[in-house]
Amino acid sequence: MLKGKHILLGVTGSIAAYKAAVLCRLLRNAGAEVQVVMTATAKQFITPLTMATLSKNPIIVEFFNPENGEWNSHISLGEWADCYVIAPATANTIAKMATGVADNLLLTTYLSARCKTIVAPAMDCDMFAHITTQTNLTTLRNHGVVIADSPAGELASGLTGKGRMAEPEQILDLIAKTLNSEKKKSLQGKHFVVTAGATIEAIDPVRYITNHSTGKMGYAIAKSLAERGAEVTLVTGRTALATPAGVKRVDVLSAADMYRAATEAFATADGAIMCAAVADYTPAKVAEHKIKKSDDDMAIELVRTKDIAAALGAVKGDRLLVGFALESDEGVKSAQSKLKRKNLDFIVLNSLTDKGAGFGVDTNKVTFIDNNGSQSLPLMSKSDVAESIVHKIEQHYAHPTQR
Ligand code: CTP
Repeated sequence: MLKGKHILLGVTGSIAAYKAAVLCRLLRNAGAEVQVVMTATAKQFITPLTMATLSKNPIIVEFFNPENGEWNSHISLGEWADCYVIAPATANTIAKMATGVADNLLLTTYLSARCKTIVAPAMDCDMFAHITTQTNLTTLRNHGVVIADSPAGELASGLTGKGRMAEPEQILDLIAKTLNSEKKKSLQGKHFVVTAGATIEAIDPVRYITNHSTGKMGYAIAKSLAERGAEVTLVTGRTALATPAGVKRVDVLSAADMYRAATEAFATADGAIMCAAVADYTPAKVAEHKIKKSDDDMAIELVRTKDIAAALGAVKGDRLLVGFALESDEGVKSAQSKLKRKNLDFIVLNSLTDKGAGFGVDTNKVTFIDNNGSQSLPLMSKSDVAESIVHKIEQHYAHPTQR
């Protein structure tokens, strides 16, 4: 449920720190990547070794490594995270967060993180009920922080009341819910053009040249973008697929029609995802009437179509442009040259040689290629591939420095 999500787990000095170990394991099992930042006091309650083993990443406590001077950047931790979860959060840390105190790495990271923060308070019932703590929690809520409910129950002090840390399972659900509602809004105000499906190049009124593209991948991307609040113009070849909710659909037939519709829509767009399988060649002339057969062989003269992705790449400026490539061999190298030639921000490479990938099937296996390198994803459903692509698009806007 959290596949590929980056969760930064902040642990502060509370007896409930042992529950952070359980939360860390649950996050990993849900498919998330986890990094843990601890305060110095948290180390008294749970060892960095435990958290490092469970998160599969080194633990970050200090601003720099005193042994070699290596700097731990709170900025890059904040940029990396899709969600920052501070569990357990002591009254002390909550007070500092509410007032902007930044005297440890966990707090500087909070101040610089652009993602959603979730806080799971953990303290004695009287500390929790104190007007100061409650005021600080209200301040954090007003700042957009999500506060996990503290259930009533037995406390380390021997008292019974509110202040226990929420159970790791509840925090996990809250993280999933928070990231899901974020998903709805993350691309609000942005307009994307998505091209999808195959074009149809007429030979005469009854015959045409086309390809096997069904449009599934492009439709899944349009759906994912719309779910995140983006305005989507789906320029589509003929398909049997239903239009995803909230998407504006423009039906086209030929590569020339698609070129016109896509360039027109791109004039007011923030980006485009070029998923269509556009014919590279079209008949030089479309016969006005059905061509009659004769005893002779025949040849059809084909001429090049315009490359829509390259045309958008030439005018895109700092707008986002994503392309696809379908290769049978030398995939990465040829996709890299396509990336440059068409001025794309990233390219999604499908390999024809991978089982379960390509036309017609519901699964796909892709590699993302951008100027920083390549990242191969496992075989996934086309809707999961679409989610991964849209996640990369979200990151493009959230972390512009990583482009
Ligand atoms: N594309 C386009 N307009 C075209 C041709 C391609 O917008 N006339 C886009 C596709 O939607 C896709 C990318 O360009 O995003 C694919 O590039 P292309 O050069 O056609 O590569 P392939 O079809 O993968 O392979 P080849 O280079 O062998 O033709």
